[in-house]
Amino acid sequence: MTLINEHYLKLKAGYLFPEIGQRVKAFSDSNPEAMVIRLGIGDVTRPLAPAIIKAFHEGVEDLSRNATFHGYGPEQGYEWLNKVIIEKSYQPLGVELLPSEVFISDGSKCDSANILDIFALDNKVAICDPVYPVYNDTNVMIGRSGEADEKGYYQGLIYMPCTEENGFTPAIPKEKVDIIYLCYPNNPTGMVASREQLQAWVDYARTNQAIIFFDAAYEAFITEPGIPHSIYEIEGAKDCAIEFRSFSKTAGFTGVRCGLTVIPEQLMALTADGEKVSLNKLWHRRQCTKFNGVSYPVQRAAAAVYSNEGWSQVKETIAFYMENARLILDGLSAAGITCYGGVNAPYIWLKTPHDIKSWDFFDKLLNECHVVGTPGSGFGPSGEGFFRLSAFGSRENVQEAVRRIQRNWGK
Ligand code: MLT
Repeated sequence: MTLINEHYLKLKAGYLFPEIGQRVKAFSDSNPEAMVIRLGIGDVTRPLAPAIIKAFHEGVEDLSRNATFHGYGPEQGYEWLNKVIIEKSYQPLGVELLPSEVFISDGSKCDSANILDIFALDNKVAICDPVYPVYNDTNVMIGRSGEADEKGYYQGLIYMPCTEENGFTPAIPKEKVDIIYLCYPNNPTGMVASREQLQAWVDYARTNQAIIFFDAAYEAFITEPGIPHSIYEIEGAKDCAIEFRSFSKTAGFTGVRCGLTVIPEQLMALTADGEKVSLNKLWHRRQCTKFNGVSYPVQRAAAAVYSNEGWSQVKETIAFYMENARLILDGLSAAGITCYGGVNAPYIWLKTPHDIKSWDFFDKLLNECHVVGTPGSGFGPSGEGFFRLSAFGSRENVQEAVRRIQRNWGK
C-alpha cells in the first residue's frame, strides 16, 4: 500500500480561510435572507485598473499572431518585467538589484512555501505568533516540526509572540535560529517595523549566519513616511535576506496570480561540510525544474502596473482601500473597541470586546451582524482574543459593517 506524508496529519485544523468559508456557507444556507458582508480573507473587490486590462488584452492578442506568439518563457520571468520592477519599485528606495536577482512567480504564497525546498530540515525556524498560517503550516508539512501541543504550538518551531504588551513587535530570539520569517506591513496585525527594528533583525541574522524571509506583500499600503518598503533598504540585508512581493493586493491580482521573489546573488548558505552555496543559483535550479513561468499575458499585465497611467490607477485603488481601513478603524474605535493596524496596512486587528474568544466572536459577529472577519486565534495562539477585519470590501459594505458592529457592540 502506498504511504503518505504523515506530517500532514499533524496539522490541527483545515487551512484557515477555507474553514471560514465553510462556516459562512453553512450560515448562509440556513439564513438565505441574511446580507452577509465578507471582511474575512484579504481578497480584493475592485476590478483591475484600465491600463492593466489593456496590456493584458494586448498580451492575449500577441498570442494570436505568428509574429508575436510566445511559448515557454524564461522560468524566472521576462527580463523586461524584472527590469521594470527594479527601476520603478526598488531604485526609488535606493536599492540596486540585477534582473537575475528577481524571480517572477505565480504568487508570494507559493514562493514562501516553495522556498523551503532549498533549505535543510535541520534548520531552526522562527515565526511570529500570530502569523500568516502558510509559514507555520508549510514547515509542519515538510517535516520540520513535531506534534502540536494543547495551545497549538508545534514542537521544534520557535514562536515569537507579538502581543499587545510588546506592541506586536517580536523580540529577537535568545537562541540561535537559522531562518526567520518576517512580514511587514504585518499580516495579520497590520503593524509595521521601523528602520531601526529591521536593522536589529539584519544584524542578528548576519551575526548568526541566519536567513530572513521577508514578506513585503503589503508594502504598497504604507502611507507613513520613513517606514521601509523593502528589507534591502537596510544595510547588510543583501547578505542575509530573501524578499517576497506580490501583485495580489497591490494591483488586484488575487485571481490573476503574479508575485516575485528577490534573492541577491551574494546571498549564501552552507552545506553540511561548511561550503558556501549561492541561494540564487539553487532557487534558479529549483524553479527551472519545478516551474514553467507565469503566462505571458499576465506578465504583460504586471508590467503595466508600473506605467505612469497604470501606477496612478493602482494608487487610486490602494487609497480607496486605505480609506476603508480608516473608516473601520475610526468607526470601531468610536464604539469603544480597541483597534490596531489599518494605517499602513489593509488589516485592522481588533481586541474582541469583553475578552470573548476569537472564534466565539466570529460566530457572534456572523450571527448577530452578518459580518465575516477572521478569528485572531486562527493565526496562532497569541492571536486569541483578537480579530482581523480586512479593508478590501466595497465602500457600502464597509460602512454597513461598521454600522452593524457599532449597533451591536458599541458602548
Ligand atoms: C489573508 O487574508 O491573510 C490573505 O488573503 C491570504 C493570502 O494572501 O494568501
